[in-house]
Amino acid sequence: MKLTVVGSGYVGLVTGVCFAEVGHDVICVDTDASKIAMLRDNVPPIYEPGLEELLKRNAGHERLQFTTKLSEALLGSSAVFIAVGTPEGEDGSSDLRYVKAVATEIGKLVDGPLLVVVKSTVPVCTCDMVEATIEAELFKRFPLGLESAKAKPWIRVASNPEFLKEGTAIDDFMKPDRIVTGVTDPESAAVFQEMYAPFVQDDPSRLQVMERRSSEMTKYAANAMLATRISFMNELSRLCEEVGSNIDDVRRGIGFDPRIGKKFLYAGPGYGGSCFPKDVEALLSMARQRDCELTVLKAVSHANKTQKMHVARKIHSHFGGDLSGRKIGIWGLAFKPGTDDVREAPALTILSALVHWGARIVVHDPVAKKTFARAWEQAGMKESQISYVEDAYDALDGADALVLLTEWPEYKRPSWSRIRSLLRKPVVFDFRNQYGFKALADAGFHYECVGRPDAQSDSRRQDRKDA
Ligand SMILES: NC(=O)c1ccc[n+]([C@@H]2O[C@H](COP(=O)([O-])OP(=O)(O)OC[C@H]3O[C@@H](n4cnc5c(N)ncnc54)[C@H](O)[C@@H]3O)[C@@H](O)[C@H]2O)c1
Repeated sequence: MKLTVVGSGYVGLVTGVCFAEVGHDVICVDTDASKIAMLRDNVPPIYEPGLEELLKRNAGHERLQFTTKLSEALLGSSAVFIAVGTPEGEDGSSDLRYVKAVATEIGKLVDGPLLVVVKSTVPVCTCDMVEATIEAELFKRFPLGLESAKAKPWIRVASNPEFLKEGTAIDDFMKPDRIVTGVTDPESAAVFQEMYAPFVQDDPSRLQVMERRSSEMTKYAANAMLATRISFMNELSRLCEEVGSNIDDVRRGIGFDPRIGKKFLYAGPGYGGSCFPKDVEALLSMARQRDCELTVLKAVSHANKTQKMHVARKIHSHFGGDLSGRKIGIWGLAFKPGTDDVREAPALTILSALVHWGARIVVHDPVAKKTFARAWEQAGMKESQISYVEDAYDALDGADALVLLTEWPEYKRPSWSRIRSLLRKPVVFDFRNQYGFKALADAGFHYECVGRPDAQSDSRRQDRKDA
């Protein structure tokens, strides 16, 4: 099949290369000419494990092409995927301007049967909007009426939200748990079956077909549920800190219950990334517009914002509320390992707070330094407030503390003797609960983590009571 994918970011590009990998002819479109130029040179503009290899292989076999012109891409395509960004608007709602722009362009260009697939994460009823937008453009081109121009039957709009995870995106796409599609007619369902057959060969029931509005809601429900688990554990971790329980033991204790399951139960510095924060806000906004209160989800969002500052304040309190002149070494900027994505990363909030309190910041991240520097400036911060280093240990040279923010594999088993010799004071804030607190305490480190009792927590609790 010939497929067009509009938007060559994390989702569009992975979708394009994976469809090409199973033999479809794919053409990826993006308005960003510099991205398209890189892709034509087989250079992925984002970091995603395995992406470069698939890009090279499929571009080499001419199954995968790149263009800035939708008009070129649509020629002969059976389906066009809309995979552009849907960022958070000022009121928390999903900003659909890019989706609408693509729908308008499709309406201006389309001249044959086409399945338009909305892959971006979008509020319920967006497919209706995309359909109406395309029809309005067709009507301008065929003013005698859609039916007489035989235009309407050409176009079908369907929903197909994406569930890939950055860092394992290729694997997720190639071996999906499920593929959710929302359609209005059996013909659209048949196109999906044909397109996705190679991905669900072992069990075709993994391709789910439902109404469009249910499919649109399913994506938000999935992200909201996962965000809820994280916020629940983060809140519980704060109580664990107060009462001397260990959140990691609690996690194991509940995670083996098959009704609960083990995933997304890790306490940390709060969830981030391009999806959970904006999708939770978009769902809340959708509910607000219908006067339907989602109290649980409101609390999830609030708990997440609080958690980022809760961990930042641990550093603030340790240094007696004054970080002026303190140098803090940071390991990890990406919102999770395996990606260079820093959108809504806890690092953005925590580093802003540290700078505000007077600290000097030196950071290391294996892949996210460039994206972070860009996001830092976009947030109105100054480039000079942060120094970036290539070697993780260089971030610790003469620093007053090490703060772990992203659990990249290379940070998992560091040389503690080397760290000790580099730090001015042996102080470690481990906000991903990666290290053994007993071993570190025995080695003379002041060690703080999230929701686990450590050597100093009893005395801190006592200090708080006394205050
Ligand atoms: N990133 C993820 O992990 C993930 C996972 C599941 C779903 N999603 C959803 O998928 C959608 C895309 O997310 P992303 O992370 O890939 O975004 P992204 O910002 O990485 O990529 C979007 C791309 O669309 C391009 N674009 C914008 N307008 C265009 C137009 N008119 N024509 C052609 N290209 C255009 C941009 O230049 C950009 O390259 C969002 O709705 C997001 O919520 C993302």
